Amino acid sequence: MKTKITELFGIEHPIIQGGMHHVGFAELAAAVSNAGGLGTITGLTQGTPEKLANEIARCKEMTDKPFAVNLTFLPSLTPPDYPGLIKEIIDAGVPVVETAGRNPAEYLPALKEAGIKVIHKCTSVRHSIKAQSIGCDAVSVDGFECGGHPGEDDIPNFILLPRAAEELEIPFVASGGMADGRSLVAAMALGAEGMNMGTRFIATQDAPVHQNVKEAIVNATELDTRLIMRSLTNTERVLNNEAVERLMEKEKRLGDDLKFEDILDEVAGVYPKIMHEGTMEAGAWSCGMVAGLVNDIPTVQDLINNIMSQADEIIKLRLQNF
Ligand SMILES: Cc1cc2nc3c(=O)[nH]c(=O)nc-3n(C[C@H](O)[C@H](O)[C@H](O)COP(=O)(O)O)c2cc1C
Repeated sequence: MKTKITELFGIEHPIIQGGMHHVGFAELAAAVSNAGGLGTITGLTQGTPEKLANEIARCKEMTDKPFAVNLTFLPSLTPPDYPGLIKEIIDAGVPVVETAGRNPAEYLPALKEAGIKVIHKCTSVRHSIKAQSIGCDAVSVDGFECGGHPGEDDIPNFILLPRAAEELEIPFVASGGMADGRSLVAAMALGAEGMNMGTRFIATQDAPVHQNVKEAIVNATELDTRLIMRSLTNTERVLNNEAVERLMEKEKRLGDDLKFEDILDEVAGVYPKIMHEGTMEAGAWSCGMVAGLVNDIPTVQDLINNIMSQADEIIKLRLQNF
C-alpha cells in the first residue's frame, strides 16, 4: 500500500510502532521495520546519549530498513540530555524522529538540518496545526482511546481524525485504538495516511517484555483501562490493577490537593518491574482500550501481514460490493 506516509519514511506498509517506555528496544523496532513498518526505539528509556547510541547500533545490526527514535519532552527538574541524545541520533544517521510531549520547536532546526523527518505526536487539532507550522513533516494524531497520555480534551478518533483532515496539509497517521486491518481501513477513510500502534505491538512475540505483560493485555477487555493523574493535568490511560485502585482512592480522597509526591509509590520507577520482571501489581502502566481487541500474541511479521491482508480484503471484497 502506497500512501504519503510510506513515501515520506521509505517504508512498505503505512504502520508505525509508537515509542513505548521500557518496550521500544532495538528488538521490537527492528522486527517492525523488517516486517515493512516503521519501528521506534524509545530514547528516554536509554537515558544517556551513550546508551542510546549503543541501542541504535544494536538495531542497525538487526535491520537495514528505516527505523525511528522517539524523543518525549517532559517537564522535569533534571531534564535528560536532549542535545546529547539528538547528536547521537544525527551521527548514527537515524532517518526519522518521533517527538512527543512538549512543543519540539527548540530541537527541530538540528533535526531538520540533518535531513531527519520528524513526526510529532499530538492529542488535539490545535497542537497538530502548531506542529505543522513549526515544520514537522507529519503528525501522529492520538485519540482519547490511546494508551499513555491522551491529553485533556477527551476527543475520540472518530471525531479527531476527520477534524485533523479538515485542518492539516501535512500527512498524519491515526493513533490510539488501532489493532488490525479494520482499524487501518477506517483510519484511511477518516483521512489518515496510515496508523500508529502501541498496545497491540506489546502483545507480540518480538516485544522484549515479560510474558505476564502480554497475557495481561490479551486477558483485558475494553472496560479495563482507567484514567489517572487528571487533577495533575497529566492524564494517563493505564491498565487497572491493585496499585491503580490505590492511586485512584488517593485521588478521590485528596481531590485538587493531590500532589505528585502522594502517588510516587504507584507511578515512580515501576516500568522496569512491570515490563522486565513481570510484577504486574507493581504500579500503573500505560495501556490502551484497544486491549479489548487483542486476543493473541503473534510475531510482528504475522501481525503486519494479517493487517495488510485484512485491509485488502475489506477494501476489495466488502466495500466494493456495496
Ligand atoms: C506501555 C506504553 C508506554 C508508552 N510510552 C510512551 C513514551 O515513552 N513516549 C511516547 O511518546 N508515547 C508512549 N506511549 C504511547 C504510544 O507510543 C502510542 O501513542 C499509544 O500507545 C497509541 O495508543 P494504543 O495503545 O491504543 O495503540 C506508550 C504507550 C504504552 C502502551
